[in-house]
Amino acid sequence: MDPKETYKKKLVSIPEAVSMVQSRQTIGVAMAASEPPGLLAELGRHQGRLEDVTVWVCLPMRIYDFIQKPEMTGHFFVENWFYGAPDRKVHPEGRVSYIPNNLHQAATNKLLAAGNKVSVFWGTATPPDERGYMSLSLGLVTEKQLIEAADLVFIEINENLPWTLGDTQLHIDDVDYVVENHVPLFELPSAPPSEAEQAIGGFIAELIEDGSTLQLGIGGIPNAITPFLLSRHDLGIHTEMFTDGMVDLYNAGVVTNKRKTLWKGKMVGAFALGTQKLYDFINDNLGVEFQQGQVTNNPHIVGQNFKMVSVNTALQVDIFGQVCSQSIGYKHFSGTGGQLDTHRGAQLSPGGRGIIALRSTAKDATISTIVPILSEGAEVTVPCQDVDTIVTEYGVAELKGLCVRDRMEALIKIAHPNFRDWLREEARRLGIVPKFS
Ligand code: COA
Repeated sequence: MDPKETYKKKLVSIPEAVSMVQSRQTIGVAMAASEPPGLLAELGRHQGRLEDVTVWVCLPMRIYDFIQKPEMTGHFFVENWFYGAPDRKVHPEGRVSYIPNNLHQAATNKLLAAGNKVSVFWGTATPPDERGYMSLSLGLVTEKQLIEAADLVFIEINENLPWTLGDTQLHIDDVDYVVENHVPLFELPSAPPSEAEQAIGGFIAELIEDGSTLQLGIGGIPNAITPFLLSRHDLGIHTEMFTDGMVDLYNAGVVTNKRKTLWKGKMVGAFALGTQKLYDFINDNLGVEFQQGQVTNNPHIVGQNFKMVSVNTALQVDIFGQVCSQSIGYKHFSGTGGQLDTHRGAQLSPGGRGIIALRSTAKDATISTIVPILSEGAEVTVPCQDVDTIVTEYGVAELKGLCVRDRMEALIKIAHPNFRDWLREEARRLGIVPKFS
């Protein structure tokens, strides 16, 4: 059948699409800026007829009634691969629970636990071309795996989405229903870097040699370092998340991808989250390759890049070198995402390095982020066995291969001066590093 005819036959309204969800079903949802806002906003309106519906999400960007409203309890339960601010707020009410995961195995393991199926998939895509192909656009972390496992696939078509290339194609024949919702895209602008972040950027830039391939993670610091890389040459990008800073580096001629060993000449990533500048850049750009999260983040694939450097950020590091990036004590904050994947992958790479960068203090310098031991309840994101390089505004600590005593000394040097004595005293008091006598 003519793809245009197929499209017309599959087109339903958003309320009609949501009315096909049944009680006790599971909905798998596309992540971050590729989430389908029309379908998700409608879901809460169907609370009266729905019981016990499970919704798998990852880094939801907007506030939706089905997650937020207390009266949704018992109607919807959210399983979440990576919390954002709305999830943190609602967590104490018990309607959302974190799915521990490494990004490259997130969908595989979830599907395994669910009998390799999900009742419904909800995602977004561009309008189809004349052959019936659409682009999954901004998100390819779990989306294709969920589409393949879903009994019913619903796509929210948005003509504002960029047409991205790589493994993003989806044919109208492989979709059960489409809805249309041509809303502006979600944008996440980055804040100007603070003084501490600028110092961190300077230290990290010194660790990145010409010809390196970079992964930059989520949060203020990875964003802040890009201006410090402007004097580098022939950098490549192999990341999970495409960001605005990468566009700046490309436009400045710093990122050329010429010396990459995998996907030479192309930036590779699994999802994009930034501003319209990024979304315009990745539109129909043969130099930008989207691959599934199970590919981009597989440490064995990451490690095949020459001089692969991963840069991620954290909330706490202790003197063993245990890194916590996803909770504040017992309070779950975000998720592992691909932090451990890329930190490990970078160390498998010839000449590679895994960097964790964080400000030395938090809460107006009242607490140290370098601690004797992680806070009670803290979730370990990078175990001490895997840790490589830690950077703060006071310098660089290379921890690989060091004993705990030497790790402590290296970390004290990059801790805030107000907390250095405290770190040593606490390490002694707790018997982690007894006094040398
Ligand atoms: N103790 C208590 N609170 C702390 C803290 C600590 N040690 N360190 C930071 N905080 C607070 C900050 O003060 C801030 O509070 P506020 O929101 O009230 O201002 C909050 O925690 C967030 O800290 P900030 O450093 O601003 O976060 P960020 O937006 O830069 O993100 C991470 C940092 C670590 C949370 C984020 O990068 C993340 O979730 N990483 C894990 C996953 C990952 O890196 N994946 C791979 C890349 S996609």
